[in-house]
Amino acid sequence: MQTDAAAVDLAGTWWFRLSPRADAPLDFIDPEAAPPAAGEIAVPSHWVLPSGGDRGNPIYTNIQLPIPLDPPHVPDENPTGDYRRDFVLSEWDGARTLLRFDGVESAFRVWLNGQEVGGSIGSRLVREFDVTEMLHDGRNVLAVRVHQWSPGTYLEDQDQWWLPGIFRDVTLLARPVGSVDDVWLQSDFDDDSGHGRVTVRLDAEDDAFPVTVRIPELDVESVFSDRAALEAAPSFDVGQVDPWSAESPRLYEAIVASAGETMLLRTGFRTVRIDGDRMLVNGRPLTFRGVNRHEFHHRLGRVFDEEAVRADLLTMKRHNVNAIRTSHYPPHPRTLDLCDELGLWVILECDLETHAFFFVDWVGNPSDDPAWRAAYLDRMERTVERDKNHPSIILWSLGNESGTGQNLAAMSSWTARRDPSRPVHYEGDYTGAYTDVYSRMYPTPHELETIAAEEGDIFGCAPAEAARVRTRPMLMCEYGAALGTGPGGLDWYDEVVDAHSRLHGGFIWEWRDHGLEVEPIDGGRHFAYGGDFGEEVHDGNFVIDGLVLSDGTPTAGLVEFAAISAPVRFAFAGETIEVRNRAHSLSTAPYVFTVSAESAEGTLAAEEVTIDVPPGETSAFAIPARIAEAASGADDAWLSMTAALRSDTAWACAGHVVSRAQRSVPTRPPLPSPNSFPTVVRTGDDLSFTAATFDASTGGLVELLGFPVEGPRVELWRAPTDNDRGKGAGSFELGAPESTLRGLGRIPGEPSEKRWRDRGLNRLRHRVTSVSRSTDAVRIESVVGAADKARQLRVAYEWLDLEAPSPLLVVDILPDAGWDSSWPRVGVHLTLPAALDNVSWVGAGPHESYPDMAEGAWIGVHERHIDVLNTMHARPQESGHRSNLRRVDITDDAGHGLRVRTGPRRTADLPGFVYSRWSAHELDVATHPFELPSSTRNHLYLDDAVHGLGSRACGPDVEPRHALWPGARTFSFRFERLG
Ligand code: GAL
Repeated sequence: MQTDAAAVDLAGTWWFRLSPRADAPLDFIDPEAAPPAAGEIAVPSHWVLPSGGDRGNPIYTNIQLPIPLDPPHVPDENPTGDYRRDFVLSEWDGARTLLRFDGVESAFRVWLNGQEVGGSIGSRLVREFDVTEMLHDGRNVLAVRVHQWSPGTYLEDQDQWWLPGIFRDVTLLARPVGSVDDVWLQSDFDDDSGHGRVTVRLDAEDDAFPVTVRIPELDVESVFSDRAALEAAPSFDVGQVDPWSAESPRLYEAIVASAGETMLLRTGFRTVRIDGDRMLVNGRPLTFRGVNRHEFHHRLGRVFDEEAVRADLLTMKRHNVNAIRTSHYPPHPRTLDLCDELGLWVILECDLETHAFFFVDWVGNPSDDPAWRAAYLDRMERTVERDKNHPSIILWSLGNESGTGQNLAAMSSWTARRDPSRPVHYEGDYTGAYTDVYSRMYPTPHELETIAAEEGDIFGCAPAEAARVRTRPMLMCEYGAALGTGPGGLDWYDEVVDAHSRLHGGFIWEWRDHGLEVEPIDGGRHFAYGGDFGEEVHDGNFVIDGLVLSDGTPTAGLVEFAAISAPVRFAFAGETIEVRNRAHSLSTAPYVFTVSAESAEGTLAAEEVTIDVPPGETSAFAIPARIAEAASGADDAWLSMTAALRSDTAWACAGHVVSRAQRSVPTRPPLPSPNSFPTVVRTGDDLSFTAATFDASTGGLVELLGFPVEGPRVELWRAPTDNDRGKGAGSFELGAPESTLRGLGRIPGEPSEKRWRDRGLNRLRHRVTSVSRSTDAVRIESVVGAADKARQLRVAYEWLDLEAPSPLLVVDILPDAGWDSSWPRVGVHLTLPAALDNVSWVGAGPHESYPDMAEGAWIGVHERHIDVLNTMHARPQESGHRSNLRRVDITDDAGHGLRVRTGPRRTADLPGFVYSRWSAHELDVATHPFELPSSTRNHLYLDDAVHGLGSRACGPDVEPRHALWPGARTFSFRFERLG
């Protein structure tokens, strides 16, 4: 909202002093005395950023508190920042003047010209003070004392960095005679008539009247001569309007003019309604394909940077994100203007989380203690009052993970009375006692199905409560833990959500990694996480958990989300392609549909097809004969279907691909028949062929097609991902019957990483038992087992066609009985010279893909340099697997190198590869990228298969169909020289 009333932005450089305790002398508030010598600080900022100075450091905790759980008290060691600045006013037209703080963590007191103004708690909430009496023309002195810890700390235990300071704007606001204290335009849309209706709610003195509300574009003007007139008829019909939706964020300018002030608002017409177990906007059901968004910048912390936030939201829109939950507090107010403008459904959450009480079974939880009632209501009022004019906000959320209790119920009741136009959300209301929608975090897809069904146990509910929550619309306020490489398994959630109208989708945890960029180490960028600042209590890299990296770089997880969340989806069905329009209200008119036949040689034929599918409907069209013929006439060709934007939008240019699907049926040549290898090789024998030279004692390569290559050796290990290490919602590997998993889905189980390490998969040892040869072939047999373990693999490597230019490696793996845990991968590991660093491949790409994260990658010809092939997470881990591989070329800058083709194999699925500067074992032990050793050889993993990713850092493990279970494997690769 803009106003013509005067305002002074008090951002800038302030005098600043940091004390270790809360009781430092108040020797800086006297306007006549110069403050003691101290430093300076930028407002807004957090005093611990940038880190490394003498102003303390950020602390990262999830549930734990960095102070004792001793509510409402805080320790004497309480970092306290004193701030002061002068400002000069002249001809100030303020009948009244407000001093506004948009965000201060966590508690503060204010003095103006030596007089105490007041104090406040509630870090991410606005607070305004009336300073009329203390202000004067000329020089004024403003002093603020901020404490890092306060009673508010117990209400702000969100999973994030603790970042004290005045981190949002400070503004002086003139309130002229006849101004309006508060205006709320409630703009509804009637989906029957197509009309808009505005209800005006004003907080103003009598001298503000008459008040005129105009919407010039609609040629509407309404004059309220006095308060009685407004109260008698606060609403008026504005005729036909274009409604607001996240897909079509139509805003209208509204001018509200009182006797003393003119304000400009942007309003959007839309109506949220709960109809049984469905939530409707403008009469149409909606599905959240959303993300949880913390306010975070890798250098600024929670300080708002409009350009960065706009870029963030544009990245969301380009990846089919249609909704944001503002986890777990209101963001900077401008963020919501951008959501209104670009089109995102918003769940606006209050700044509240008392998670630390979970550790003491919620004993003493403020949420159920009347002594905290006022503080809870204060938080909710400040949330709703600041943001109620935004059409993008369609639900209010009471907060996060604060247990349950009367104070939450009171917040909900207050909200329902103040704003009946928006339903109330809070996940911790498991039984549906005081909220309007049923919300859960991290259910398994099985649980979702149970929730959607008419019966079956529901977490935390007695039968009657389960029946009650089944009468409500359901959403997942968090799912799909995006820590590190992943998340996997999103497609399953999407299928379940699509199949049940009660389920309204959900919000990925979470949008962005919260790594704080610190001084480069060893020349590389370094994003710090919990513990990196020497915190005594911290939660490590659990804060590195986004679909985009700390600096906003999209991950393959985001690309996967985009593919699964596309508003239009395709399915190949025989000779036809089905087009499902899952949009809320848009037809498919904005898209150009193209169907094509492609192969490793490029596009063989392409054709645009015209198909108009209304929202919520599905149509099919026949694959054009020309395209089908081109695909069937070529060797290993595939069909592609895309929907691309027809014209530029506010968030992407024409041609931007919104949705894509492919059908590929690779040919499967037969495996070579068993061969005989009549000659046993002895140490010292010459084992050289045209294509390769081997070490006669180990059977390992010395040279392949002119390059020094080492290996191949069977490998089962991958550097565990954050989800492999996660303890989340239980494992599918316990041998539990499916029926058990269908219930609550919360069965314990060790993380995959633990099971894998316990079985020694990270420490395989190889014992070559024989090397034998024929004229142009070699066979190496070995036994592979783990240190301290008895289970083994019998492995045979057969090299065939060694006198030809393209030798074939056939690998046979026979596990002995008793393997009882999944494997991270199964394939062979080779090392190549470091100069072979250009990679191009025909297969899935350009992003990484795994069995349960395979929708975002498409079959094509892709290329990348080794240094950008893999994602370097803040904690190194497995990444960069490319699946569905036909061939990969690995070359130096002169184009010399090796081509590896997928050879015949026993299974129908194609293999994949990982190519990295570091081995899986090196990545495994490094906790930060700068700990990785300098690399002298490149590591090529040719994987016959890999284990899925899951989202077990918080959610379910890899589902059984994507788990890699031990078994006999036979696969082959053919090698050629390039250049
Ligand atoms: C949830 C919580 C989030 C975050 C997430 C971690 O329980 O609401 O704030 O901590 O887990 O995956």
